[in-house]
Amino acid sequence: QEAHAAEMERTFIAIKPDGVQRGLISEIISRFERKGFKLVAIKIVVPSKEFAQKHYHDLKDRPFFNGLCEFLSSAPVVAMVWEGEGVIKYGRKLIGATDPQKSEPGTIRGDLAVVVGRNIIHGSDGPETAKDEINLWFKPEELVSYTSNAEKWIY
Ligand code: PPS
Repeated sequence: QEAHAAEMERTFIAIKPDGVQRGLISEIISRFERKGFKLVAIKIVVPSKEFAQKHYHDLKDRPFFNGLCEFLSSAPVVAMVWEGEGVIKYGRKLIGATDPQKSEPGTIRGDLAVVVGRNIIHGSDGPETAKDEINLWFKPEELVSYTSNAEKWIY
């Protein structure tokens, strides 16, 4: 079966400041990579508070909104786009439940985090947010389309 890169689903994944500071970048990337998903964009940035507010705009009425935006803009974040069949939904599965007290062992948050305000990773929650978040964090030319040698053994 042929898988055409252009038709492949993409999601936005960010390793938040706690994940970066705790040295979990390679651990997190490794989980997505070993699954069979493909990294098509990556950069490390310190977002401004205004940028964080844009990223989390859906949550602006939540009591934790300000703290969450302060946190995201406090230190480097690794922003990524991952590609693959079902990557939006399955990426969320790899990440685990929002509250690490409730995420299953075997998930990123279940294995590596303890509290919701420091849950180390963000992943788009659906196709629309994935599109919006990729557009917010990346310019089109920062996304790379390529075929990996492994793909014919994954699809
Ligand atoms: S919702 O709307 O209640 O379902 O929110 P949810 O999708 O669970 O979470 C949205 C993001 O808010 C973060 N969050 C929190 N941060 C700090 N403190 C508290 N109490 C809190 N509750 C939720 C949560 O981690 C989500 O952020 P991302 O970066 O998308 O994981």
